[in-house]
Amino acid sequence: SLKEFAKTERPQSSVHWVHVIGAGVMGGDIAAWCALKGLTVTLQDQDRERIAAAQGRAAKLFARKARNARDARAAADRMTPDLRGDGIRHADIVIEAITENLDAKRELYVQIKPLMQPDAVLATNTSSLSLEALGAGLNMAERFIGLHFFNPVARMPLVEVVETKSVSTITKQAAYTFVGAIGKLPLPVQDAPGFLVNAVLAPYMLEAMRCVDEGIRPETLDAAMLKFGMPMGPIELIDTVGLDIARDAGLQLTGQTNLPACLEHHLDRKELGRKSGQGFYRWQNDKAIKPD
Ligand code: NAI
Repeated sequence: SLKEFAKTERPQSSVHWVHVIGAGVMGGDIAAWCALKGLTVTLQDQDRERIAAAQGRAAKLFARKARNARDARAAADRMTPDLRGDGIRHADIVIEAITENLDAKRELYVQIKPLMQPDAVLATNTSSLSLEALGAGLNMAERFIGLHFFNPVARMPLVEVVETKSVSTITKQAAYTFVGAIGKLPLPVQDAPGFLVNAVLAPYMLEAMRCVDEGIRPETLDAAMLKFGMPMGPIELIDTVGLDIARDAGLQLTGQTNLPACLEHHLDRKELGRKSGQGFYRWQNDKAIKPD
């Protein structure tokens, strides 16, 4: 567990400066989390507005989680917006969290490799792309690893550490100690579709929607799984993840080709879950409104 892991003796993390590329849902929140935990952070995006939005979310996180206003300000000062990527040269680890597109990520790696410190680690937050394919021909496989954070970053304790055949022991150690140093629990996984968590979650979410197709109400199903001990019901989870992402993951990871009718129904209406304000549930202030 995270509590037990936090108590274990580990070598000091060699990571002091984190450079995050991609200030979207994930990159912005990973950057904020690292700044909260005392690291120097530069946050790069090609879109100035995404960085500004990430800073806004970060300010809320710091206000909520820092001990006092002074610490919150110090955390904000540790996180620097970086449109041009100046931080790459200084970073001990570069975390790539740009759009989920193989070619875009590969192109970015080619650009940044010559700028990085010779021993810095390059980590990708990809959820579905093969690291083998992402790193092919880049000639830095020993320093390339997956750090798969979960959404929302501030609430999810687990980070999957995706290992390839070629990654070095030093890089693996750096990744594990870094994840521990920011208060998360590293889980070693292999470079396989869905890694571990999503490979299990995809069929679970599809099956829950098939139950809805059979006439079980979403709120009944969610309540039952809460009683079972899950922190969140499967339908609320689908709304939280996004129905489009649940569709893609479901099709890619299970090999099933026909979607649950209830999912198609919402997708046709562009009801994507929490992010669009309506999915299986209506959402208000990031909370699902469930019928009694
Ligand atoms: P997003 O679409 O919210 O953010 C991507 C950001 O990357 C955008 O702000 C975009 O402007 C920027 N970007 C794209 N190309 C760039 C480039 N060449 N240089 C600089 N910035 C660039 O995407 P999101 O959801 O944050 O996903 C990012 C990565 O994290 C993806 O690989 C995704 O698979 C992974 N992931 C997403 C999760 C989620 O729940 N959304 C969960 C876990 C992993």
